[in-house]
Amino acid sequence: MTKVRIDPVQALRGSLHPPPDKSISHRCALVATMTMDPVLVRNYLDAGDTNATLDAVRSVGAVVENRPDELVIRGTGLRAAAEADAPIDVRNAGTLMRLLPGWLAGQPVGLQWTIDGDASIRRRPVDRIAAPLRAMGGRVEATDGRYPPFTVYGSTLHGIEYDLPVASAQVKSCAMLAALVASGETSIHEPHPTRDHTERLLMRAGVPVRREGTRVIVPSVDELELDDVTVPGDLSSAAFFIAAGVLVPGSRLMVDRVGVNWTRLGFLRVLDRMGAIVIGDLEPEGAPPGPEEPVSDLDIAAGPLEGTTVEPDEVPLAIDELPLIALVGCFAEGETVVRGANELRFKESDRIAGVVDGLRGLGADIEATEDGFAVRGTGGLRGGVIDSRGDHRLAMLGAVAGLASQEGVEVVGMDAAAVSYPGFPDDLAALV
Ligand code: S3P
Repeated sequence: MTKVRIDPVQALRGSLHPPPDKSISHRCALVATMTMDPVLVRNYLDAGDTNATLDAVRSVGAVVENRPDELVIRGTGLRAAAEADAPIDVRNAGTLMRLLPGWLAGQPVGLQWTIDGDASIRRRPVDRIAAPLRAMGGRVEATDGRYPPFTVYGSTLHGIEYDLPVASAQVKSCAMLAALVASGETSIHEPHPTRDHTERLLMRAGVPVRREGTRVIVPSVDELELDDVTVPGDLSSAAFFIAAGVLVPGSRLMVDRVGVNWTRLGFLRVLDRMGAIVIGDLEPEGAPPGPEEPVSDLDIAAGPLEGTTVEPDEVPLAIDELPLIALVGCFAEGETVVRGANELRFKESDRIAGVVDGLRGLGADIEATEDGFAVRGTGGLRGGVIDSRGDHRLAMLGAVAGLASQEGVEVVGMDAAAVSYPGFPDDLAALV
């Protein structure tokens, strides 16, 4: 396990070219696999999670050709996934684990796939995807009824009306992929809007996806058609440097060509409310999904920060950045509270425990609540040692805390960052 010491810096200056979006990369590989004609994917994320997806799609029959800066994926068509020779290893990738079974569940009867992953994946529940798939006529058998390894059996699926018990883009997307190969229409209700990348990519692939109020409706289709697609920069990865730019006085950071889909902008909205200066051409809140992903440059500068409350409806729009909101809260005046975020307990690690224990160890005045956390800002952070717990986002949180701290931070398990952002150490060196 790598231990890395991050010392405080005077200011961050320069331009960040963020890595490609992880969520969109996963979806591009999966949807390209479901098409018959070759699909050119530009700017696919080369990282642990998304490489696990390329291996997974290869194992179910896709051919992936790696060219410099682009991939060509030759899929199997919508109803012709192949059985894999061995269990599909999703490694650390929760999105892969939850989306792929949606498509597999509607493949021909008689076929089956077992899905497994690393120790963290084996603690992450899959009953949330098994429920809609079973309601559609699918068959999923999980360890202890809930966990990987689990087996998905090809079944004849039918469309349903499904109310998501928790706002989760992964579960919604699983049901959407199953809907394509089910009979009739599937209508999915979200308690709060979640990232809509699957909607957009399916629209691009010719599926007449409709949004009616809080429901997304997906019809059965014969085939998908997707010519080429370019993955935008990942705002969730850029968020680490954006937070550093907001916390280290005198910083001025530009972010190039990052995805600004409104269903991902919760973090920027919260930062704006806290007093940070974020300038960019952001997609307006509530914009209906279309076949494109909007991108923009961003310009970030620090300002005096004050605490805020993140309410449950904002949580899915900032889900992966909530740890950073806790960190920013340490530097703000007053209290910063995150409510309705119990989902954080089911991420790559229990992120409520990881954030609260981790930041407290660096000197933060933070406590866990029933469904989130509360931070009393003390104007700064002392520093110390933080354990990533093998979680990429906690590793990068620790590094950003180090940059803005008084005494520096040692991050135990910094290598976890490679799951989503292998270039993180290089970008860090370039910007400080
Ligand atoms: C993701 C959705 C979110 C997010 C995860 C990626 C996606 O998970 O935390 O990192 O790509 O759909 P949930 O949908 O479970 O909240």
